[in-house]
Amino acid sequence: MDATSKRKKNPEDLRSRRWFGRDDLRSFGHRSRLKQMGLAPEDYAGKPVVAVVNTWSDLNPCHSHFRQRAEEVKRGVWQAGGFPVELPALSISETYMKPSPMLYRNLLAMEVEELLRSQPIDGAVLLGGCDKTTPGLLMGAISMNLPAVYLPAGPMLRGNLNGQPLGSGSDVWKFWAERCAGNITEAEWAEMEDGIARSPGHCMTMGTASTMTAVAESLGLTLPGASSIPAVDASHQRMATECGRRAVEMVWEDLKPSDILSAESFENAITTALALGGSTNAIIHLIALAGRAGVKVELRDFDRLSRRTPVLANVRPSGEFLMEDFYYAGGLRALLSQITDLLHLDCVTVSGQTIGENIEGAKVCNAEVIRPPDEPLAAEGGTAILFGNLAPNGAVVKASAAERRLLRHKGPAVVFEDYNDMAARIDDEDLEVDEDSVLVLRNAGPLGGPGMPEWGMLPIPKKLLERGVRDMLRVSDARMSGTSYGACVLHVSPESYVGGPLAFVRDGDLIELDVEARRLHLHVSDEELARRRESWRPPGRRAGRGYVALFAEHVTQADRGCDFDFLHAGPDVPEPEIH
Ligand code: FES
Repeated sequence: MDATSKRKKNPEDLRSRRWFGRDDLRSFGHRSRLKQMGLAPEDYAGKPVVAVVNTWSDLNPCHSHFRQRAEEVKRGVWQAGGFPVELPALSISETYMKPSPMLYRNLLAMEVEELLRSQPIDGAVLLGGCDKTTPGLLMGAISMNLPAVYLPAGPMLRGNLNGQPLGSGSDVWKFWAERCAGNITEAEWAEMEDGIARSPGHCMTMGTASTMTAVAESLGLTLPGASSIPAVDASHQRMATECGRRAVEMVWEDLKPSDILSAESFENAITTALALGGSTNAIIHLIALAGRAGVKVELRDFDRLSRRTPVLANVRPSGEFLMEDFYYAGGLRALLSQITDLLHLDCVTVSGQTIGENIEGAKVCNAEVIRPPDEPLAAEGGTAILFGNLAPNGAVVKASAAERRLLRHKGPAVVFEDYNDMAARIDDEDLEVDEDSVLVLRNAGPLGGPGMPEWGMLPIPKKLLERGVRDMLRVSDARMSGTSYGACVLHVSPESYVGGPLAFVRDGDLIELDVEARRLHLHVSDEELARRRESWRPPGRRAGRGYVALFAEHVTQADRGCDFDFLHAGPDVPEPEIH
């Protein structure tokens, strides 16, 4: 079927026509103001208006190429007969936004939805990539439900230290532990600072950014292969222009997120994240995305799919290589071609073709980087969902990134009340802790953080680092960076701040993790826990006004995706009146 035969809309059906196409006072104003910007009817009349939603900022190094990419997207929109308009949106920089970029994911989602709704927009190309920008942009676009295509920022080049590849995050944590243990010099540490981030683009390990852009592709929301292209590769520029062209066609075809997203496409995305050995953050974001699309996705879905999905991407932190290697090995299309038996191949994508058609002809060029299913990195997905009296609504552990001895472990708790308490005492020589202890951090969840910061990879106490300990069991209601590793039980729900059982753990209580049994258990009787609950007092609310107060009022717990309760799928919001 050619492009014109898929066409469902004519110029008079365009949403933007309500702003520009009428013979009334308001349309006069809208047209005259376009003329003020030097634009004539030949530029826009009867053409799809495509928003280029750009999360560029001077404080977002992962998106530093987006000014140029926006121009390349616009070129594609013009080529296809559309009218591009660039709309700046909140640039959530994982590096710089405090206390946690996650606090602002929902703000970006709200902004995108309302940017698209309130203005004369027919379709959109969304530019993102740094961790929270992918879910934030997609959540907003799903809720607004206009034709939209996602352009991932692409990973940065491999890091380099004296010819050795360095991975974002993962190698920083690793070298920092060695520095604390006195094993590397200040000069080596300084060289690492020079070589760890060498180009525009998002983190080039299989962190949250690489996982979520792959999730976007496997959901069907990017063009084929878009998520794997390094940010500075010329293919990335061509992909940007193709996104612009395709967005115009999608407007004429009226191909919207609601035509693409389904229970099956979400299963594809979960399976993809698992086969990549991807970030635990994808669990929260996928539940939130599904909530926007009106699809039911629960923690148990991840566990069910994890048990049947092999980890094939040999990329750090679970594996050895980096995203640049993954691209040269064939990228996501090649990986998906290895697991076609686990995918719903007939799911439609923004390309107008099915995901099965999108990966036709894809091949693996390096079987070390993208392993065959009969030689996986791990036979099961690296992520396990845990339940037990310490996490009645669930918790998460990335087993593939932990030392195997800790996957079944029982040890005494060493409890930290919050991050500041942990930072003050973790390296104290007098802290009673050994390699069998279980480090517990509370007040780090959606409300406790606030914003569920990535504090879940608690540092190993210095005195244990010096003795050669590199992993310990850690339990918290925090998240962890997708580039992190270790036996870290995360996302404990409900969180301690709202009186989840984590709030009642005391130093010396025995905590047991059994990944095989999917169990997280606090060896304290129900009666004693009830007594502790009686005497517990909730911490005070921290923000009396502003966005953080709105966040505290409406954010859901980790097992429900940390979206705002009023933003879940529901009745349509009416189109704006134009008076
Ligand atoms: Fe942007 Fe890691 S800092 S993706």
